[in-house]
Amino acid sequence: MRLPKLLSVLCLFVCSPALLADVLPYQNPALPVAKRVQDLLARMSLDEKLGQMLMGGRDWVKPDQVRQLNMGTLLSGGGSVPSPNTVDGWVKMMKGYQEAAHATRLGIPVLYGIDSVHGFQLLPTATIFPQQVGLGAARDEDLMRRIGQITAREMSAAGVYWNFAPVVAVVDDIRWGRAYEALGEDTKLTTRLATAYSKGFQSGLEVFGQGAPHPIVTAKHYLGDGGVAYQSAKMPTPTGQAPIMDRGDTRGDEAALLARFLPPYKAQIDAGARSVMPSFSSWNGVKMHANGKLLTDVLRKQLGFNGLVVTDWEALQYLPANGFGEQLALATNAGVDVFMEPSKTAEVLRLMRQNVEQNKVSQARINEAVANILRVKFEMGLFEHDGPIAEAKALVGSPEHRAVAREAVRKSLVLLKNGGALPLKRDQHIIVAGRHANDLGLQSGGWTLEWQGFAGNNSRLPGATTIVDGIRQVAGPSAKVDYREEGDFSKSAVSAKAPADVALVFVGEPPYAEWLGDRMAEGLMLSAADLRQIATLRPLARKLVLVLVSGRPLILGDALAQSDAVVAAWLPGSEGEGVADVLFGDAPFVGKLPYAWPRDAAGFLPASAPVEARKASLLFEVGYGLSN
Ligand code: BGC
Ligand code: BGC
Repeated sequence: MRLPKLLSVLCLFVCSPALLADVLPYQNPALPVAKRVQDLLARMSLDEKLGQMLMGGRDWVKPDQVRQLNMGTLLSGGGSVPSPNTVDGWVKMMKGYQEAAHATRLGIPVLYGIDSVHGFQLLPTATIFPQQVGLGAARDEDLMRRIGQITAREMSAAGVYWNFAPVVAVVDDIRWGRAYEALGEDTKLTTRLATAYSKGFQSGLEVFGQGAPHPIVTAKHYLGDGGVAYQSAKMPTPTGQAPIMDRGDTRGDEAALLARFLPPYKAQIDAGARSVMPSFSSWNGVKMHANGKLLTDVLRKQLGFNGLVVTDWEALQYLPANGFGEQLALATNAGVDVFMEPSKTAEVLRLMRQNVEQNKVSQARINEAVANILRVKFEMGLFEHDGPIAEAKALVGSPEHRAVAREAVRKSLVLLKNGGALPLKRDQHIIVAGRHANDLGLQSGGWTLEWQGFAGNNSRLPGATTIVDGIRQVAGPSAKVDYREEGDFSKSAVSAKAPADVALVFVGEPPYAEWLGDRMAEGLMLSAADLRQIATLRPLARKLVLVLVSGRPLILGDALAQSDAVVAAWLPGSEGEGVADVLFGDAPFVGKLPYAWPRDAAGFLPASAPVEARKASLLFEVGYGLSN
């Protein structure tokens, strides 16, 4: 522990004048946060202030640069992990960064952020919850609260206290590649569930006692990210694959925008959220990162937000301004505080210095931005404790945490059809087919270990359980469960003449993130291979149960009639047993659709379509779900 810090902590208990003399006001936790912010800000040079506004990416920034640039924040983007990617690996990495921050003149701790969108899913041994689409089906606030708590606790083992979650997008159109990251198409449901999550996350470390930091959430992506119009995306993207919707344009009048998309932000802020991330997207053609009206008048003045606004990944280069310097000025003047420009920290610092010197950005705006950042750091208690929580290490991926994830899986399953095929019975002969039953990457989806998720290597998530292993476990040793990934039962005892009791066929989506998941409606149809597999399995069993492992509703076509039962399992995460629990009737089906289910591709309509027309285009409405 650094000396001033030690003194300031001691001061809490003894506070003798002699000790106090060595502690600067900003180092004194007994003083109100506003006083500490004021004191520290007054001591800072322009470069030190601008340093706080930088966000370095782990892939580009070494501890030494944190020290040289007085860097205030850092992040791991999707898939950016230390080696080894273990709790100890994270602890060591974080220690390096914090020590570099301590070595600066003012010793301001670094704030490190990651996207723990369904648990701390960058870490292989973590508990991985269903993606939010499944939680939108589970509709359980208390569960959300516990998921938030657990996520905060597992992150705290690594010493990371800033989450770029929850996604509070209200999603208009499931053709958008981020539909699975959201809680559905309903504003109220999203608001209720995301708020419970954030409350849980923020209070998650209270169990570790008073000295533990207060972790923070990020409500994202502000505002109207889920409202982007089909084919409105014009942005070039780093992968070269053109998006259809992601980062596109949301349209309509202000009253409609605010009514549909603002309530979750208001609720997040009322519940204490300390960070907001603007959206890559635009509203009526105006990029959100440059929208001063929404970022300042609405967010700051109307909602009273005084936390920090962090830009989205390299978003500034897309702003309509002349060069990077002016893009930075535009965003800063619109109201952003932290620049997520992970590879360009030195350049951002240089250009921002110029912006201030040339009066393109006022000193007052810089002071305000830095005050927002420092306020959050003080409130979090980072000046007193910025290291990992040692006790939390044993909780990472622990049985208690995994039990909650399994409960979440059980509650997320939606039963769409059941002609007497479910629940399964343990004395039945059950044949199982489909790669989605036996692939931890496919059942976890995007952002898991990698930005785009992974597939085909179950050893990457030690401690996780595939769905088919879950079925074997839950069925018990005496049950007859026969799994063939490709569905080829030709060399087995089952045949059309001697059918099994039940065939469980798993189909679904590959993992994806952001615009790489954008699809035309035709892209939401079950693939030809999936349909072939269903057709092959159909005669081999008396009953056929179709289980969808996907981030959104998929267009079923003939598969609906071919199946005796249909289950939406979403992207359940690390605890595949949860799927089995419900299939075998150990737990009831309680999930309800967070998204309406389209009937076919030709007639596909988003949620914003006229009510009656949309209704006519659906197979199942929002909220649909059978109970066995
Ligand atoms: C995504 C954000 C994410 C950020 C950092 C961006 O591309 O849009 O949701 O928080 O990357 O990984
Ligand atoms: C990063 C993500 C980020 C994405 C956006 C990726 O390289 O890992 O965190 O969201 O780029 O372009």
